Amino acid sequence: MCGIVGYIGKRQAYPVLVKGLHRLEYRGYDSAGVALINGEGQLNVYKSQGKVSDLEDTAQHQDLTGSVGIAHTRWATHGEPNFRNAHPHLSQYGRLAIVHNGIIENYAPLREMLRQNGRTFKSDTDTEVVVQLIEYLQEKQQLSFPQSVRRTLQMLQGSYAIAVLDKNQPDTIVAARKGSPLVVGVGDSELFLGSDASPIVEYTNRIIYLDDEDMVVLHRESDSNANEVGIDLMTLHGEHKQPRIEQVTLDVSQLEKGGYDHFMLKEICEQPQSLRACLLSLRQALFGSDSEPIFSLLQSANRVLITACGTSWHAGIVAKYAFEQMARIPVDVDYASEFRYRNPVINEGDLVIAISQSGETADTLAAIEMAKKQGAKVLSICNVIGSSIPRASDQTIYTMVGPEIGVASTKAFTAQVTVLTTLAILWGKRRGIVSESESADLLKELDSLPGQIAKMLTQKEAIRQMAQTLSFAPSCLYIGRGYNYPVALEGALKLKEISYIHAEGYPASEMKHGPIALISQEMPVVTIATQSPIYDKLVSNIQEIRARQGRVMAVVSEGDTEVVRMADGYVVVPCVSDCLSPILNIVPLQLLSYYVACLKGCNVDQPRNLAKSVTVE
Ligand code: AGP
Repeated sequence: MCGIVGYIGKRQAYPVLVKGLHRLEYRGYDSAGVALINGEGQLNVYKSQGKVSDLEDTAQHQDLTGSVGIAHTRWATHGEPNFRNAHPHLSQYGRLAIVHNGIIENYAPLREMLRQNGRTFKSDTDTEVVVQLIEYLQEKQQLSFPQSVRRTLQMLQGSYAIAVLDKNQPDTIVAARKGSPLVVGVGDSELFLGSDASPIVEYTNRIIYLDDEDMVVLHRESDSNANEVGIDLMTLHGEHKQPRIEQVTLDVSQLEKGGYDHFMLKEICEQPQSLRACLLSLRQALFGSDSEPIFSLLQSANRVLITACGTSWHAGIVAKYAFEQMARIPVDVDYASEFRYRNPVINEGDLVIAISQSGETADTLAAIEMAKKQGAKVLSICNVIGSSIPRASDQTIYTMVGPEIGVASTKAFTAQVTVLTTLAILWGKRRGIVSESESADLLKELDSLPGQIAKMLTQKEAIRQMAQTLSFAPSCLYIGRGYNYPVALEGALKLKEISYIHAEGYPASEMKHGPIALISQEMPVVTIATQSPIYDKLVSNIQEIRARQGRVMAVVSEGDTEVVRMADGYVVVPCVSDCLSPILNIVPLQLLSYYVACLKGCNVDQPRNLAKSVTVE
């Protein structure tokens, strides 16, 4: 999950690297560091525990010159999140510096071998083993810098994206990836590295997405007047490859807060626009002539296996309800981390649908690779173009909501559910289960959702008041039924991840089988109680809570009279069809968690222990 940036070219590297780290800070913020080679060929490393801003404080007044450098923002895996374990790490004799994202699984025996050969270690990380090994092989086997990196990588097990500097070759960066993302940006006489394109797009939109087991040597003419840079791309086995440059269209303003206090608030509030963009791109993906490969995947499926993590998994449960109801196709939903290891039954006619905002979640990626080996086809629903999951899938539908930077996923969820529900409607229509007119009505209603969300967003005040009550609670329950059971799960996840209040999502009727024992004044219950065929059943569940002096906060439909009478606080959402209601109903719960976190003074965009992109299992 860490973030990597690299630069080689004609300008000073430090400002590029630090700005890039700020863009990648969503990937981890335990420590940050930078390595630069200055004009005299000295390798300077500065690092700091904590955020990129702490690094900037540490580095000021130091020699920050040099037009070659690498940098890192860390989410700790091996070794505590402290200064000693911050990247970049240096080799024994200080010749090499490395930054790494991933986990080296066989680091222990390698470390032991290096120890026996006189190397001493200054950190507890798996990463330091890699840089020590490169230097060891350089010396022992008289290998060139790129050769020694390649030889080292052949000895590693696990996942990595790395960038390495060698002060004896001050005009070169060697980088490679396996299981962790890495891209190269191609500018005018300058080259960039990034864990994704976000640190690069303000300099160039020409991007090379490295494949797994690719190694790249970025070099610059040592004659400083020449201003020439070059890229040698090869596999770990030394086969040369032709780099494929793609044009990306990422607007830099999408990476800024745009006047909001937090990215999360911005991303919640921009859902009318992001959903409109999603619907527009769906028109091309599912309604145009390009849609046939996707529908032929669906139509040849006997069964659907949905796999995802976190919020994306919640979108998967909504999809299960929609696919089974509208397309009458059996659906299983699995956490990717369970699916990949529990030896599930996978047959050739199975369609795996992988859902991922980032497209880089390690477990989801591994799950689809495992399913493909067993003969399943894979359709992914993803937000980040060119990321690993789409590249490993047979087909992809992009949600197209632009970069989601807040660690708590918001606009990605509404878009994922929109894509999946649209698929269910169209698939149901092709299977003759949803009629022409039902499908037309639902699609029209889907088109109206951005406007309905905008209307809902005008009620921030009511939600802020509910947040006051929740902010004092040590624990909360979220309940819903049918399509809104996954909304309860997602609402609870939002609250716990950014406000650190324990919250549990539950199907409302299951309360009687245990959780109702917890009901007290101290534990508010948030209910999603909008109009649905089982609204009356939910009303009974709320009465059971009220009868035990529970406090109820509710999301209700316009015109509701029953739940509003029982609730201690409520927010009203426009009436929509039950199958579309999750897209609307989650929005007040996103805002609720946001306001609670703000009231508690929590760091909304960078909650403790979390990172946006979970590229380690
Ligand atoms: C939710 O707010 C979290 N950011 C997290 O649960 C996230 O949804 C999960 O890590 C999956 O990420 P992905 O969609 O990028 O695969």
